[in-house]
Amino acid sequence: IDGSLPTITDLETERNLLEAAKIIRETDDTVGFPTETVYGLGGSSLNDRSVLNIYKAKNRPSDNPLISHISSIDQLNRKIYGQAQVSDVFQNIPTVYRNLIDKLWPGPLTILLPVPRVSTLSKLTTADQPTFAVRIPSNPVARALIALSDTPIAAPSANRSTRPSPTLVAHVYHDLKGRIPLILDGGACTVGVESTVVDGLVDPPLLLRPGGFTWERIREMGGDDWSNCKVENNKTIAAGEKVRTPGMKYRHYSPQAKVVLFSPHISDSASLSQRLDNVKAAIEHHTQGIRKYALLSTLLFPDDLITDPRCIHKSLGKTSSDIQTNLFAMLREVDELEEVDLILVEGIDEEGEGLAVMNRLKKAASNNVTLF
Ligand code: TXA
Ligand code: MG
Repeated sequence: IDGSLPTITDLETERNLLEAAKIIRETDDTVGFPTETVYGLGGSSLNDRSVLNIYKAKNRPSDNPLISHISSIDQLNRKIYGQAQVSDVFQNIPTVYRNLIDKLWPGPLTILLPVPRVSTLSKLTTADQPTFAVRIPSNPVARALIALSDTPIAAPSANRSTRPSPTLVAHVYHDLKGRIPLILDGGACTVGVESTVVDGLVDPPLLLRPGGFTWERIREMGGDDWSNCKVENNKTIAAGEKVRTPGMKYRHYSPQAKVVLFSPHISDSASLSQRLDNVKAAIEHHTQGIRKYALLSTLLFPDDLITDPRCIHKSLGKTSSDIQTNLFAMLREVDELEEVDLILVEGIDEEGEGLAVMNRLKKAASNNVTLF
């Protein structure tokens, strides 16, 4: 992770990157930009007014802290810790993170670090938490933007608060047009869900948000400390209690249409055809009086499950990683372009990518889940 710049080969890309970098470095404004996970809405992590403008453009509550995106560990030392000369580039990073960083950065992994005693970070970036979140994205446009501005970039997903995260530039434009001066178009995001957020400062270490790297991968790659990493269970948080990942308490990932999630019940002894008959009956019940609805299927629902002219049937994909990549774009497609009134989704087992996929789908469905 040497922080060297990707080679920029065409003049238009160079001009657009320089313009975006200038906005980050020299103004209080924000820009939309691609990452490998989802599009981000970025502003300087070091500038209160930039961070306020992020919250304002998104309509996001400001007690929800932001991830700072850096292009190298050298930049972290210089810009957040104010150390131009370091004897060990890892001196500000607890050893618990060493293996994960060696193997998974740059990439969709966000770690928590203690806020330094003398900190350049805007307090609004951290929402006054004792820790701050940081990651090095692997998307070359994101890396170039951060390196060219030489500024840690605070960036939540570039959607209006509560909406599904954007994985295409058109999604960012749809939600934020007229509210931000510039969006960099880097094509479709390959990962499709946000980064995995981990906290290695507690014992045992916690997975705070399932994301682009699976829980299995974190346990496998992290070394001894991470082999017993637990998944934070946000369901048990009582009202008023201080949450470890403030973002997890808000309504999230919601299309305008109501979402109903069908969740496979692996240990069910009934045959698949019996289970699918139950699904059909439940769909009939949910779609009474509905003008137009979508059925997003995954692994078990057959193409001919529903023959109803009101139904738009689409496949989210046939592998968990394809399903993850397509998830947000498909929710937006049927919601914003097809304008359906109801979205029925076939869930998957919560293994591998399934944990992040089901985490997002349960929120989109406000826990309106039917087992099948
Ligand atoms: O993939 C991603 O992470 C995307 C792209 C743009 O990089 N960004 C993103 O940011 O998803 P956002 O703001 O939507 O989610 C940040 C998550 C929230 O759940 C927030 O509560 C948590 O990280 N977080 C940030 N700082 C934290 C802290 N100090 N302690 C605990 N959780 C924190
Ligand atoms: Mg978000």
